Amino acid sequence: MAFDAAFLDELRNRTPLASLIGRRNKLVRSGRNWKTCCPFHGEKTPSFYVYDDHFHCFGCGAHGDAISFVMQSDGRSFPEAVEQLAAEAGLEVPKQDPRSEARAREVKSLGDVLSLVQASYRRRLSLPEGREGLAYLRGRGLSDATIERFGLGWSGDGRHLVEELRAHDVTPEMLVQAGILRVDDRGQPKGELFFNRVTFPIRDRRGKIISFGARTLGDGQPKYLNGPETALFSKRRTLYNLDLAREAVHKGAELVVVEGYMDVIALDQAGFGGAVAPLGTALGEEQLDLLWRMTPSPILCLDGDAAGARAALRVCEVALPLLSPERTLRFCRLDPKDDPDSLIRSRGAGAMGEALSGATSLATELFGLMTGNMSDPGPDQRAALREKLVALSKLIPDRALSSEYRSTFLDMFFARFRRGGGGGKKPFQKKGAPLPLSTQAPGEMRHIEQGSVERLNILTALLLRYPDILPEVEQAYSSLALPGDLDRIRAALLDWACQDEDLTEENCQHWIENRGLTDIVTAVTESPMPREVGLGKDRDDVLKVDVVESWWHFYGLVNFRNFEREVANDIQATIMQVYSGGGSGDGSFPESLLARMRVLEALRRGEDVEEEN
Ligand code: UTP
Ligand code: MN
Repeated sequence: MAFDAAFLDELRNRTPLASLIGRRNKLVRSGRNWKTCCPFHGEKTPSFYVYDDHFHCFGCGAHGDAISFVMQSDGRSFPEAVEQLAAEAGLEVPKQDPRSEARAREVKSLGDVLSLVQASYRRRLSLPEGREGLAYLRGRGLSDATIERFGLGWSGDGRHLVEELRAHDVTPEMLVQAGILRVDDRGQPKGELFFNRVTFPIRDRRGKIISFGARTLGDGQPKYLNGPETALFSKRRTLYNLDLAREAVHKGAELVVVEGYMDVIALDQAGFGGAVAPLGTALGEEQLDLLWRMTPSPILCLDGDAAGARAALRVCEVALPLLSPERTLRFCRLDPKDDPDSLIRSRGAGAMGEALSGATSLATELFGLMTGNMSDPGPDQRAALREKLVALSKLIPDRALSSEYRSTFLDMFFARFRRGGGGGKKPFQKKGAPLPLSTQAPGEMRHIEQGSVERLNILTALLLRYPDILPEVEQAYSSLALPGDLDRIRAALLDWACQDEDLTEENCQHWIENRGLTDIVTAVTESPMPREVGLGKDRDDVLKVDVVESWWHFYGLVNFRNFEREVANDIQATIMQVYSGGGSGDGSFPESLLARMRVLEALRRGEDVEEEN
């Protein structure tokens, strides 16, 4: 017998799989899903997973939906299973007979139920009982057109909805399934979820109502109530106002994520149509996906307080593993006491527009969150911070992008916490001045090229033998993309250089041994090296300045375009500093920069520069 497909869909929608299966098997949470020992084959550890719309056993391969679950576990035929589930869901199975088919069409879907509820809420807002609610919304600056556009309503006092909808053949059970009625612990319909509140219909991305949020008028708690998860409403997959925002974004509006219903509505009324909000939960993976389907770089507009900072950090950690060159985020932080709604009301749409156009990149936001107002970190803090930044960039799966983040973070790190003494030269760049690499366009990536590995070996070997040059080249060294072993050596070297006052070869070796890295270091230093670098010579015959120049020489060879740009930028920065009177010296270039300028010249004169693409 053939069943109407729409009916079967409705039946599946009305049968939450977890509770169907959970009635016979003890389910335990597994992330956002459930699992249990497979009822279809004997096992001691659970490999039977229950998702929203299907189950799957990784042990025996059993797989299906609510209907096939009943067939398999109760030995029913398909029509029998359908009958049974329909009875449980309070649905009538449509017969082939034309008269009952007509009746079947009258069976209300959950969507129909919610539309009826919405019609009731809206009507009540303009009745005497909704007077206070309407005054509240107007008092918050919403125009009647806005109230209409967002379908805002009044819930009533919570005592009439069931009777009102019964007249439309809507049963209390259906209201429970739609998330409008609460249930007691025996699953029986109890009271209405919303009463004495203004209501905000929540629509899916096609504009169909899937749930409601509702706010008290006063200071009562909770301030907002949101409908529960239902067959139609999944909080983690929903963004408030997604349908209207999507239209606006197609027409060129900026996509902005804010925290609350009122923020979305205030933004829309002020001309920022691309606003959405999560439903009282932190922004998750599925919601980020929804956003990125609309635009590569949505703006997250979070409160400027500590809670906003925590929220931003959490979003960053969710977002990093999902980033790609076409998927990033921007951040807009408001003053601690403001949200978009209050900002627009107190300072107008112009101020909001300015805040949005000042949105910063994800890297900048994340760096700010990690460093907070840290001003003068000690060696331990420096090392920990650097490690954390490197670890964060490693969360990005795209290799080129990950190394781009790594170097951007490290550039910011050095711009902010440049080493003062410790054998290093005086900083020649003003604190906070932009550094060369962070100005790099996002599309430009650095890769490890095959032929470069030998040169990267040399760069590393030079530092192992003459570690006193580390402070001078630390920043550039940090920004290089290195293969695994060289990367480990670098981490050890940089850690050591932060902590040891005396950067000698002996101290360095000692550190390397303690770290258990002797073997990989030997492999690097014993690989074939050109003699003229100074590696094969007696230490005393070599001048430090020559070692430094050698180091820059090989750095320039692996990285010519960047090297050129970095030197040019530093020249520019030095000149600017002299002009602005901020320079402490006599206006000449510092020796550290001169060394690099000499090397650059030599490379330009035509040594074997490796072309990057
Ligand atoms: P906020 O507490 O930041 O309030 O909640 P708001 O948006 O500024 O609200 P107004 O301006 O006082 O009306 C932000 C969002 O968090 C959820 C709601 O989705 C709200 O829009 N929330 C808040 C709840 O779910 N429950 C609450 O009790 C409070
Ligand atoms: Mn608010």
